[in-house]
Amino acid sequence: MTEIDTSALFAQAAGVLQDNDRGTYSVPTKGLYPFQWNWDSCLTALGYGFLDEDRAWTEIETLFRHQWDDGMVPHIVFHVEDDGYFPGPDVWGVAREIQTSGISNPPVAGFAIRRLYDRSSNPEAFRARAEALIPKISHWHRWFHACRDPEGTGLVAVIHPWETGRDNSVDWDAAFDRVPTEGVKPYTRRDTSHANPEHRPTQAQYDRYIWLVQHFRSLGWDNSRLHDASPFQIVDPGFNAILIRSCEDLADLADALGMAEIAAENRAMAERTRAALPSLWSEAHGQYLCLDRKLGTLIDSRSIGGLMTVFADIGAEHAGRIAERVEEIASQTKWIVPSHDPAAADFNSTRYWRGPIWLIINFMIADGLRRQGRIETSDRIVGSSLDLIAVSGLAEYYDPHTGEGCGGGHFSWTAAMVLEFLNIGDGVGNEALNH
Ligand code: DGY
Repeated sequence: MTEIDTSALFAQAAGVLQDNDRGTYSVPTKGLYPFQWNWDSCLTALGYGFLDEDRAWTEIETLFRHQWDDGMVPHIVFHVEDDGYFPGPDVWGVAREIQTSGISNPPVAGFAIRRLYDRSSNPEAFRARAEALIPKISHWHRWFHACRDPEGTGLVAVIHPWETGRDNSVDWDAAFDRVPTEGVKPYTRRDTSHANPEHRPTQAQYDRYIWLVQHFRSLGWDNSRLHDASPFQIVDPGFNAILIRSCEDLADLADALGMAEIAAENRAMAERTRAALPSLWSEAHGQYLCLDRKLGTLIDSRSIGGLMTVFADIGAEHAGRIAERVEEIASQTKWIVPSHDPAAADFNSTRYWRGPIWLIINFMIADGLRRQGRIETSDRIVGSSLDLIAVSGLAEYYDPHTGEGCGGGHFSWTAAMVLEFLNIGDGVGNEALNH
């Protein structure tokens, strides 16, 4: 392992967070992603929390100012004009004064505000802001259950790969093949002029991303229709685990602030999802799998989506199996945790979500394992993550074999996660954080 200078690392991460700060929101990175992204923002807020708590709350408040009336919180808010990104607001065609995309993102806001509140040296100072955000976040959770699980199974689906955040995961290759491409209007990608095209999704995948956007737009972005009308309906275990964790964290915070009704509703939502989650468990693979809701079958793809589930309280047995799986992977790649099974034929160590390591995912797995008593494996993930930064800086994602930084550079949520890693457990970097 590389020698880690925690004070230098702290300064490096803080520098990235400051550079990507646009006053009331942050961009994930200049150029490649010039607007506010939903889960990027909520996780980046955790980083701001170490620098300026007020700024951290503002980040999440800004996002929720763009919540739709039905409760949906969009995955992109187009605060400014910038033709360096595709697809921009003209493709989404959402009728709002400040335009947004029309799909959502993993719901980490409930988790994030609880963490900010609990960690504050003066939580009372943020009480009113928490009280204002809690009903909005609760509305979003309710929206997921109503609009992404219309039959009330307890598990929510995603209807676009961008909604999961794991855009080009191997998990949805087969389901995505069923998405047509006829009628996609001609377009020019921008991502490949900012990042190495070999690190990004393929053209065939982009055509399908855009077909889905055009299809949902043709239905007027009416969320009461989109789920059933989508040829792509995937139940992602990691996504559902995030929802469980956020519902529970929001419930705890709501209880602490005397908002009993919201607390009870969120606990009930978490319980419904937790009760249904075992239907995604694969004994043969020792982890959870995605479900193709259109076919009603589990998808035989061993990806990070099934390991992220440990972010929620899934019980000691499954948490233990996931720790074992992480340890097994650690014997196959130099750094962990790759986003896809390194032994699989379709593993690709540099292409976005088909193999590279993402530090936000490492953070969720490390945090979850730690909560469930798997300290040694959690520490291994933290050590590997900090080592990657020391080797390759604050990239968007990393090659698990070579440690090469891939995709965009100078990345906000990677920087934020570094501050979290320095603080986790006994806090390898407590000195740096308390400087
Ligand atoms: C992108 O443009 O790569 C994003 O992941 C879509 O949100």
